[in-house]
Amino acid sequence: MEADGDVKTTATGFHCTLCNVNIPNMSSLEQHIQGRKHKTLSTVRATRKSQEEHSVFVAGIKPHISQTDIAEYFEQFGPVTEVIMDKENGVFAIVHFTGTESIQEALSCVEHRLRDLKLRVKPREKKGFKLIPKKKNDPQNLQQFLDRFKPQLCQLMSVDAQMQYIVERCQLGENEKKARELLVQLLQEVFVEFFPDSQILPFGSSVNTFGIQSCDLDLFLDLDNTKKFQAHAKSTTEQAGQGTSDDSHSEDSILSDIDLSAASPADVLELVATILRRCVPSVHNVQVVSSARLPVAKFHYRKLNLQGDITINNRLAVRNTRFLQLCSGLDDRLRPLVYTIRYWAKQKQLAGNSSGAGPLLNNYALTLLIIFFLQNCDPPVLPTVDQLKDMACEEEECVIEGWDCTFPSQPIAVPPSKNKQGLCTLLASFFSFYAVFDFAGSVISVREGRALPVTDFLGHGDGDAEDAMEEQQPAKTHHKGPKLGPLNLLDPFELTHNVAGNLNERSGRSFQRECQEAEKYCRSMQYQRKSTKGKSWGLVRLFTPDGDASHAKPEQLAISVPFKLASLPRALRDQLQAAGDAFRPLWFQKVCAASLAVFQDVLGCHLVACTDAVFGEEPAGGDADTSAASLNTSASENGDGLQNDSGEAVVGTKRSLSSGSDASSSPQGKRPRLAKKSRADLPTWSFVQRHAVWAGRRKVRRELVKDSDLRQEGSCTELEAQVTARIAEKEAELKEPLEFQVHGQMLGGTETTRAVLRFEEASDKKGVFQDFFHFLEVFLPRMVETLLQKQEATA
Ligand code: UTP
Repeated sequence: MEADGDVKTTATGFHCTLCNVNIPNMSSLEQHIQGRKHKTLSTVRATRKSQEEHSVFVAGIKPHISQTDIAEYFEQFGPVTEVIMDKENGVFAIVHFTGTESIQEALSCVEHRLRDLKLRVKPREKKGFKLIPKKKNDPQNLQQFLDRFKPQLCQLMSVDAQMQYIVERCQLGENEKKARELLVQLLQEVFVEFFPDSQILPFGSSVNTFGIQSCDLDLFLDLDNTKKFQAHAKSTTEQAGQGTSDDSHSEDSILSDIDLSAASPADVLELVATILRRCVPSVHNVQVVSSARLPVAKFHYRKLNLQGDITINNRLAVRNTRFLQLCSGLDDRLRPLVYTIRYWAKQKQLAGNSSGAGPLLNNYALTLLIIFFLQNCDPPVLPTVDQLKDMACEEEECVIEGWDCTFPSQPIAVPPSKNKQGLCTLLASFFSFYAVFDFAGSVISVREGRALPVTDFLGHGDGDAEDAMEEQQPAKTHHKGPKLGPLNLLDPFELTHNVAGNLNERSGRSFQRECQEAEKYCRSMQYQRKSTKGKSWGLVRLFTPDGDASHAKPEQLAISVPFKLASLPRALRDQLQAAGDAFRPLWFQKVCAASLAVFQDVLGCHLVACTDAVFGEEPAGGDADTSAASLNTSASENGDGLQNDSGEAVVGTKRSLSSGSDASSSPQGKRPRLAKKSRADLPTWSFVQRHAVWAGRRKVRRELVKDSDLRQEGSCTELEAQVTARIAEKEAELKEPLEFQVHGQMLGGTETTRAVLRFEEASDKKGVFQDFFHFLEVFLPRMVETLLQKQEATA
């Protein structure tokens, strides 16, 4: 890693001053520096610096002076690229030049006179670039809210009342709603001037009944009618011959500059941004983000202090907002649940990506998780989307971009739920539902109201899920499958979109862990009963970050290897798909073999003993040991067999771990069931390590890479093995060798599919072992993943 001026060493690791985050160790630091957030901020900082160096500040302007006047005046000092006006009062501007020499020219001019005005020209202030987190997502603010309302919450008589109180306190007030409507109206009036027949439609939290005060204003600019208008105007002009003037070709019509049906979304949004900048008072910080999944023009509306986003290809979002409104109308319990769970998720830093992008859940995804849970209550609180479709009448049929978005327009069309559970119970059930959910092994379908096995989404196309999709969407001809990840949650309408596809392993794991913690807390009296001694209870304790609610911390010496279907090679994915029901044990075996290879071949650990391994699937609630399907392949038949350094089968090895699929494949045509519980015990391995192979690896790796071509693809594990060998060769042995045991356990079915390796230190070298363990926490899952990927090359 190159030296980075933003990184400071601290007592507990590192601190990145640019991103304002603490980083525990060197390998995380490397990842951080290569990560999107750090790179984006570095680029933004560089752009700002360059802008500062290429511009001057001009004061003394009066409102009658236009941008063009200023640009023309300053052209005498060199080419001007942009003039940014102070729209509010029109008294200052920032003038950008192409070259820095123009700045010197402008600054050295003794007097600047523009018409009757004397302008003051100054160099730009050099402001240090600092990341300012968005206020509304700042946990600090939530904490302030909680501190303020804690006494009131604690005085209420029930959790149900507390949840209702949260809604009342957080929801958008009538005045704010009205002010937003007026802004939408203003934008509509402005846009229709430039884009005839266009329509601006709000969606998201402003209108979906789950909005909080000062939430974003999401807008969809519908240009379909404008496109028709433009096409019609064009053909009329062509028919009438040259020289005919109409609206679309008049001098000041923006439509004469762009062909809407051919232009890219980014180009159209640039026009939208220009209109916002020039024509809408109180609009600031306009920016087009074209790299987003859906390009967007962002702006800040100062009068209401709110952030607005305009998209032009997001018709589905307007429809799914209608769906959320309908769900809200179907059952009164949904809103208090959504507000409470959103609040909890923000407090626990599980949701609310500060810059719009990031690895946390977005609010839409979180709301869908709640809806899915309510569909799965017994009896269900909400119907599935497929059921809603059947309740719609002909006029309500709706297909957008090929996706069936039909549902009734009014709640009256849907029979009320038979479920009569209170909010307190439902909230606790939400946590227990997701505390044991197999996120990695399933795909959540709000459309069908059930979890589908993730292997259903392995098509034979380009790593996508075409087959599964075509079955559900005959109207669609070709769609790529959803991006699979640690949490797979299908959009109810756009069935190829995983709305939680942005989550990473860590954020996915955190969500489940926090659900487990919350579930435990909800079983306690402090959750259910008001404290008679005036202590915190109910939601107040639930919301406390890392407070009383989190009793047990996850086990100290355990490393999880997540099931990441999407990153597995084609050959292995095919094997897993063919294994049907038994896909977990098969994957477990592969992980087991790969882990052993990392310990022995990559890290040079000596295997001194090994006990038996048992793999299997059992029906939920069954007994793992009796139903486990043991493997019969002998060590000698298996390349991955457990052998000691001299090639002999190691002590205690009764069966080895097969890497083939036959032992675990299920009868053809049998549909995988998610209710099965996968349990498998890996062998317990006893290892000895004589060298500090974790210390100074980076340096050794750099040296090795410098004088070899080992960096080439596929050589990562070989390189790491060489690093180990070099350390063993050059560095003295540890005074006392490390002896440790690794016990593997495979989980899945009723909790998220993963392999867990538990470590036990046998040689009483606590400090040294901790170092080794911390290194393994990052190194082992990464190497296992690499080895699993390499299987394809060797298959
Ligand atoms: P958000 O996740 O921002 O939800 O998505 P929100 O309720 O508006 O919350 P905040 O207050 O802005 O954070 C906004 C809308 O974008 C659409 C949905 O219509 C959602 O209501 N959306 C979002 C999608 O259609 N797909 C997605 O994957 C995400």
